[in-house]
Parts: sequence; C-alpha cells; structure tokens
Amino acid sequence: MYKIAVIPGDGIGPEVIREGVKVVDKASELMGFDIEWVEYDYGAERYLKTGKTLDEDDLKELSRYKAIYLGAIGDPRVEPGILEIGIVLKIRFYFDEYINLRPVRLLPGVKSPLAGKGADDIDFVVIRENTEDFYIGSGAVIDRGRDKKILKIHRKLYDLTLDIESWFSGRGRYAYQIGLITEENARRVFKYAFEYTRRHGRRKVSLVDKANVIPQIYGLWRDVFNEVSREYPDISTEMLYADATAMWFVKNPEYFDVVVMPNLFGDVLTDLGAMIQGGLGLAPAGNINPDGTSMFEPLHGSAPKYKGMNIVNPIATILAGAMMLDFLGEYEASKLIEDAVIEVLKEGRVRTRDLGGDSKTYEVGDAVVRKMVSLR
Ligand code: IPM
Ligand code: MN
Repeated sequence: MYKIAVIPGDGIGPEVIREGVKVVDKASELMGFDIEWVEYDYGAERYLKTGKTLDEDDLKELSRYKAIYLGAIGDPRVEPGILEIGIVLKIRFYFDEYINLRPVRLLPGVKSPLAGKGADDIDFVVIRENTEDFYIGSGAVIDRGRDKKILKIHRKLYDLTLDIESWFSGRGRYAYQIGLITEENARRVFKYAFEYTRRHGRRKVSLVDKANVIPQIYGLWRDVFNEVSREYPDISTEMLYADATAMWFVKNPEYFDVVVMPNLFGDVLTDLGAMIQGGLGLAPAGNINPDGTSMFEPLHGSAPKYKGMNIVNPIATILAGAMMLDFLGEYEASKLIEDAVIEVLKEGRVRTRDLGGDSKTYEVGDAVVRKMVSLR
C-alpha cells in the first residue's frame, strides 16, 4: 500500500494528472497493490485567494510521502517566477531532489521532426543536476541611483579586479546572479549517473557544460567528474560543451547514451530533447532524491491556452507515473504502463492533436487502461 500526494496544479495540470492517476491506479489493481491518493490544491488558485505558494507547514505535510505526482504549475494571472519558484523549485530544493531524470526516447509509432530518424536512433537519458547552478536564486538587482553599493568582481581570467564603477558608469541598475557548484553535490549526481548507466546496461556518460567560458564552476564540475569516473572504468566518458550538444542532439541523436548536465543547460536542452522525441506531450521527468521524497511530473508546463479543452496529450504525465512506480520499486507495474503506451502509440488510433489525431485527453488514458488489461 502506497500513499501518494497528488498536486494537479494549474492550466491543463488537472486534465493530464486525472489520466495519470487513472492509469497508475489500474496498473496497481492489475499487479495487486494499493495506492491511496491524497490531493493538494497548491497552485495559482490558492495563491490568488490566500497569497500562499508553499509554506513550511505544506512542506512538512508533503514530507509524509515518498512520492509526489504533479500536473503543472504556472498561470498567466501570476507574475512569472512566483509559482514556479514558490512551488516547483521549493519542492525540489526542500526535499533535496538532486536528480532530474529526463529520458529522451522516440517511441515506436511516433514521428520525430528530425528527418530520417526512427525509434532506434533516439534513445538516451538526460540526468539534469537539479539543486544548484544558476537555480540557487542568489543575486541582486542594484540601483546605482539609490544604492551606493559597488560590486567588485574578481575576473581571474584576465587577472584583474573589475570594479563595477569603471565597467558601468551610468546611474541605472545592474544585476548579477550567481551559479553555484559544490563538490559534494556534483559527486552524488555523477555517482547516480554512473550507477544508472551500469544498471541499465548503457555504456557511455557524456558530461555537458561550458567550461571554456565559465571555468570556475564548470572547471570544478569537470574535476569531480574525472575523479568519480575513475571508479567506473567499464563506462566510457567524454566532455562536451552545451552549444555543441544542442547541435548534436539534432544532427546525431544516436550518438548519446547517458548525458549529465548542470541545471540550467539541462533545462534548456531537455526541451530540445522533448522535441526530437516527438514533442512535449511525450516527455516525463522525475525529480529524484533516492533516499527521500521524490516528485514526478510531465516535462511540459501548464499550457494555459488549452486549459479545460481536454485536447492535450496526457502521455508525458502517464509516463511520469510509470517512472514513479519504478522509483517505488513496482517495476512490473511500471513496465506494464510503458508497454501499453507504446502499443497505443503504435496502433495510432487514439491520438491527441499534437500527434496528428483528434482524440480527447481522457480517451488516451482510457486506451492505455484497456491496453494494460489486454497485455496482462
Ligand atoms: C522544468 C521547468 C521548471 C524549471 C520551472 C517550472 C521552474 O521549466 O521543469 O523544466 O525551470 O526547471
Ligand atoms: Mn524547463
């Protein structure tokens, strides 16, 4: 018996999470275990009513669960950042979900926008570092008309100390934001990546960064990677720049196996990854703390313009549900969902608009449920 927290959230969140819950429930029934879902109304509506995103009590409440199933967060009525940071990032950070697992896999029956690439060509996994880098929220906007503060930046590259005064002589504002990489966090992310690679019979880990222009944080990132990689002589490694990685995702996706990225590049490049695997409607994400509370969600956002229309694709959320069951140790139930999704996609009869069909969101959930029953 598992207790799982459900946060349907904003926009299309409730529509896709309904299908996810439906499918995961059926999988549990077929495999003989129970799930109790406990729903929470965190999101835009609650924020607009009460001014609360997530407070300490909410986080304590969520800490009773091993898994959180999230629809989507974000609403045009709320200034950008408030809900994303106040809910999604807060959960990731509070529960120390240091891995963001984002498989990029072109499923059979889905067409990639990349000409000539099929299911055999696009099958890799991005492991996005999930708690550091430029996401730590440390920085400031300084108004020189009002604040006298002067920022001194030590620029090691040119061996000089840059005084903002001489760099920027106006009376306007300037802003800075800091990226952080700690040895300890990088080490556990890389260990996870190498262990994942072994466990899944994969062979190569590619490290992504921009150590050529951001040498402090990504230099350390590389050092730690080299150190950890020595414990895994059976796995080959390489280091790539983020810009080149973007190019290769499009040009040679078959080249990739397991790809480790810092938070911000990981954010950007996994949207690209989702596109080459057939679209945002198909890409799941797992925010994982292997020893704590983890959160599973579709990679996509709340798509407010489609809200309530029941036309979006719930497969990303359904696959996130499968990932959640795998995390909970219910491997067969997880596999059953994946197999059913693949069969439904292969048959191609039930498809939402993003895949060229006109099925409703709930029809996809129903089709996956029926397929699970027949596969069992
Ligand atoms: C994602 C999203 C989030 C991120 C937002 C909602 C905070 O874009 O999960 O990729 O930037 O990580
Ligand atoms: Mn993103």
